[in-house]
Amino acid sequence: MSKPETANQQTNEQQLKMERIVSLCKRRGFIFPSSEIYGGTGSVWDYGPFGVLLKNNVKAAWWRAVVQERADMVGLDAAILMHPRVWEASGHVKSFTDPLVDCKQCKQRFRADDLAGDRCPACGGELTEARPFNLMFKTFMGPVENDAAVTYLRPETCQGIFANFKNVLVSSRKKPPFGIAQIGKSFRNEITTGNFTFRSREFEQYEIEYFVPPDEADQWFEYWVEERLKWYTAFGVKRDNLRLREHGEDELAHYASRCSDIEYNFPFGWSELEGIANRQDFDLRQHQEHSGRDLAYFDEATKQRYLPHVIEPSGGVDRSVLAFVVDAYEAIEGGRGSAGAEVESVLRLHPRLAPVKAAVLPLVRRDGMPDRARAIYEELKRHWFVEYDEGGSIGRRYRRQDEIGTPFGVTIDSQTLEDDTVTVRDRDTMEQVRVSADRLVEFLRDKLGEC
Ligand code: GAP
Repeated sequence: MSKPETANQQTNEQQLKMERIVSLCKRRGFIFPSSEIYGGTGSVWDYGPFGVLLKNNVKAAWWRAVVQERADMVGLDAAILMHPRVWEASGHVKSFTDPLVDCKQCKQRFRADDLAGDRCPACGGELTEARPFNLMFKTFMGPVENDAAVTYLRPETCQGIFANFKNVLVSSRKKPPFGIAQIGKSFRNEITTGNFTFRSREFEQYEIEYFVPPDEADQWFEYWVEERLKWYTAFGVKRDNLRLREHGEDELAHYASRCSDIEYNFPFGWSELEGIANRQDFDLRQHQEHSGRDLAYFDEATKQRYLPHVIEPSGGVDRSVLAFVVDAYEAIEGGRGSAGAEVESVLRLHPRLAPVKAAVLPLVRRDGMPDRARAIYEELKRHWFVEYDEGGSIGRRYRRQDEIGTPFGVTIDSQTLEDDTVTVRDRDTMEQVRVSADRLVEFLRDKLGEC
């Protein structure tokens, strides 16, 4: 086969994979387009019943790894609306822009740096000169809509951390090196959107600002790059699907002396999941100047006063969710054993991330099986998020659970009624073992680990 054909074939396969994933997310209640009944809003997404569970599990796994399990980190939940001068100090009012061009003919707008030529990609018309377009969403604070009332929806969560640096330092009695972690919504009026949730206008970030003595910045930068890579692989992302990409000089943000992106091999190509940046003392210095408050740290031991430097691992929750789903997704042509099946999908999610940990399934809806199954469900749901399902053939119910990534299926059959044992089916191997119902919690706890 010639090279271009192979490349095309791969592209088609990747496109099909992405289409199947988007379809599964909609069909099974993970992700819906926002305001769909009104035709949708551009690049804004809603998380459905399983999506919200998955996303919460991803956030909880991050919080546990970077806050709970560390002595050098504290959490924060700052407001989305901040004083407008924050965004002057951070540089966003002046330089958080993309170059924008309009087509004089069809009036469509494009990011100039996305275009290959100087003619409109939609109609071939003539384009205007590029001009800077600020990506922050503007709104008004209070009842009067004038210039003095203008404020912004935050385009990144980290400025809430910098603005609270002194409050946290004093109240938590931490000393550099230490970090502040935060998860929250951010908003950017992106010109180019797309690739499902990958680039949205409303999204969630998880960010760490790790404050260090200036001469330790390089070593902490290396440390956090490794630490964050390990986190993705610990939750099941294949190492081969992750790579690091260091920013070139011309690409670095105005505040950074170094930045390394963790990229994931999405079906639409290698793309950024998270950036780890050395922001130096840029932000604390800017806020110190603009607010007139002293933001320096005084080291009692060395009697030195300094502005800490900052290493920032900044990731996107929605992008991580998408990467976990893509990595876990497998389409099995010909099915997993059901007669006549064309393709069946399995989400091999890490048990900690899986929305539902176990499904309780009576084999048939008679002979007292549903009653016993309900009792087992009531018991299990005190420990984990579990589902009870008695509708349709057992094969169909297993397939539904495979598609939402449920690690275990607990089936109540005629033997259960004789000796009170149940079968436990493993999502990945499809192996079934018989377990006594009174040992089921213990059995699942052993298998599910720290869920
Ligand atoms: N505080 C630094 C900062 O915000 P960034 O590279 O602009 O850096 C950090 O954003 C992360 O936020 C990205 O790696 C990405 O995962 C996520 N992110 C940024 N823009 C996004 C968007 N429009 N949609 C979804 N996620 C986005």
